[in-house]
Amino acid sequence: MPRSDSDIATLEDPATVTGRDKAPAAARQADDDVVIRARGVTVAFGGKKVLDDLSLDVRRGEILGFVGPSGAGKSVLLRTILGLNAKDAGTIEVFGIDYDRASDRERLSVERRWGVLFQHGALFSALTVRENIEVPMKEYLDLSPKLMHELAMLKIDLVGLAPDAADKYPSELSGGMIKRAALARALALDPEIVFLDEPTSGLDPIGAADFDQLIMTLRDTLGLSVYMVTHDLDSLFQACDRIAVLGERKVLVEGPLAKMLDYDHPWVKSYFHGKRARTIVTNDAKPARPTPFDGAA
Ligand SMILES: Nc1ncnc2c1ncn2[C@@H]1O[C@H](COP(=O)(O)OP(=O)(O)OP(=O)(O)O)[C@@H](O)[C@H]1O
Ligand SMILES: [Mg+2]
Repeated sequence: MPRSDSDIATLEDPATVTGRDKAPAAARQADDDVVIRARGVTVAFGGKKVLDDLSLDVRRGEILGFVGPSGAGKSVLLRTILGLNAKDAGTIEVFGIDYDRASDRERLSVERRWGVLFQHGALFSALTVRENIEVPMKEYLDLSPKLMHELAMLKIDLVGLAPDAADKYPSELSGGMIKRAALARALALDPEIVFLDEPTSGLDPIGAADFDQLIMTLRDTLGLSVYMVTHDLDSLFQACDRIAVLGERKVLVEGPLAKMLDYDHPWVKSYFHGKRARTIVTNDAKPARPTPFDGAA
């Protein structure tokens, strides 16, 4: 996984375990359908808790939409799952491996099985699209330059970019192309799970719908699990199998959309029943956002 200077992992001592599961072994076999299991996770900065006793499951093959107010700690949780933020308490198992207690070899094996599209700094600006996609390959795989080149071109095709995007620099791409190129890099190692932090922010509604469709297609064809932090109500309504809501420093509720719509909490209610949501959930539950074909007429 490519890391910027600020993405250096600061791993703490073995965490104090709180929450539902006590003292899991470092490499306990995961339940077949749970790829991420967070229990009792607490993260504080300067003594101020951002996350407090948070628990969450991400299941294999699902698109989980992770939502919550701005500044609630969505990106902090994502970075904590990736081992880039230290925890004050709790455990997080990815593929049944507790990162804090794992050996270097186990950590490496986990890192090879995930791909990440960060909220900021999606691509290295000094590298072309193809070179960006080759970064994780160079870091984790031992392949010839020719093979890496060919694999990068396959990823470019997979995310729906034209071959000539390969030699372009990020500054030469549109916002939508940058998101796709960043997704191609996240897919470089053929991950089992991808973490996407606000992947459709800044895209127009058709570009965002296209991106959602691409994510759904990849989930269906590659069997990917997708952890998607998003503010995009359309994505939540159309692409996500389950939704988790972060509020009051923990996951307030997780489940299918119907559960969100029924949940009695002021923020959840105003979010899922607010004016913007009402334009999406019509009586016949048809999406309000234009489909990719609407713009083509
Ligand atoms: N490294 C850090 N040091 C200190 N405080 C931090 C750090 N990282 C995040 N925070 C704080 O944690 C809180 C949650 O930030 P986070 O970026 O996770 O919010 P978010 O839910 O992703 O918001 P948004 O929807 O705007 O992206 C904020 O108050 C932020 O200032
Ligand atoms: Mg964020």
